[in-house]
Amino acid sequence: MKLLVLGGTKNLGRHVVETALAAGHDVTLFNRGRTNPELFPGVHRLTGDRAAPDVLAGGEWDGVIDLSGFLVRDVSLSAAVLRDRCAHYTYMSSIAVYASKTHRGMTESAPLLPWPAGAPEDEFTMDLYGPSKVRCESLLSATFGDRTAAVRSGFVVGSYNPDFGNWGWALAHGGSMECAARPEQPVQYIDARDLANFLPHDGSNDGTFQLDNSRALAAGLRLRPGVEVARDYIAWLRAGNIPPEPPH
Ligand SMILES: NC(=O)c1ccc[n+]([C@@H]2O[C@H](COP(=O)([O-])OP(=O)(O)OC[C@H]3O[C@@H](n4cnc5c(N)ncnc54)[C@H](OP(=O)(O)O)[C@@H]3O)[C@@H](O)[C@H]2O)c1
Repeated sequence: MKLLVLGGTKNLGRHVVETALAAGHDVTLFNRGRTNPELFPGVHRLTGDRAAPDVLAGGEWDGVIDLSGFLVRDVSLSAAVLRDRCAHYTYMSSIAVYASKTHRGMTESAPLLPWPAGAPEDEFTMDLYGPSKVRCESLLSATFGDRTAAVRSGFVVGSYNPDFGNWGWALAHGGSMECAARPEQPVQYIDARDLANFLPHDGSNDGTFQLDNSRALAAGLRLRPGVEVARDYIAWLRAGNIPPEPPH
């Protein structure tokens, strides 16, 4: 599919682009060309700043993955330009959206952070990271309806990524390991490759092997366990049999 990646050259985004290219998607990158500009030389690029995303008005995409949306103003601008130019808009959000940091086992429906009255929509501060993600999620829902999804991640780890960096560095090169004050307190993390796989997944083949066979089962179809199917087929091959060429 035709995929527009907003960002894509630093941490998670780099994995997303690698994964999308490996899956055969037709990728376009939109960024300022400052961060690792030597990456992905064969990939189509649109150069620009999120504060003025006019260059996006020249294309159409099946999917957008927004990895660089930190400011409400920026996401609002790209939403306006892309509303009628893409089928689906995936927004990379964060667990920083949740109002509570003490409740355990929160789900996606947990209360979200409010927007602080009078806070600027065009200036990044760490205090506004969570509230901005909340506002961006909500403005994208208002713009795209069910054509948008927000993915709220915790720590993203692995190559290209800084989190776990001091532990990884100490294990790789020696040195002291910083440890949690309370060792029983868990840390949730996700490997950037797993998250990247999840983000470019287009679902276009999801139904192929999930057909409803209840009528056949009711009519008497009996299915032997998969392990028996595999074991007998391997034994058949080992006996010197050669399967026919498709079509079959
Ligand atoms: N890392 C984590 O643990 C974690 C956890 C939860 C959520 N997230 C979210 O994951 C997302 C991914 O972050 P990432 O750093 O891995 O993404 P990335 O896509 O690898 O890197 C950021 C990209 O944004 C571009 N960019 C930055 N400022 C820009 C601007 N003003 N206009 C246009 N392009 C701009 C950069 O290129 P140029 O500099 O060349 O423009 C770069 O390509 C973020 O939204 C973050 O909130 C991360």
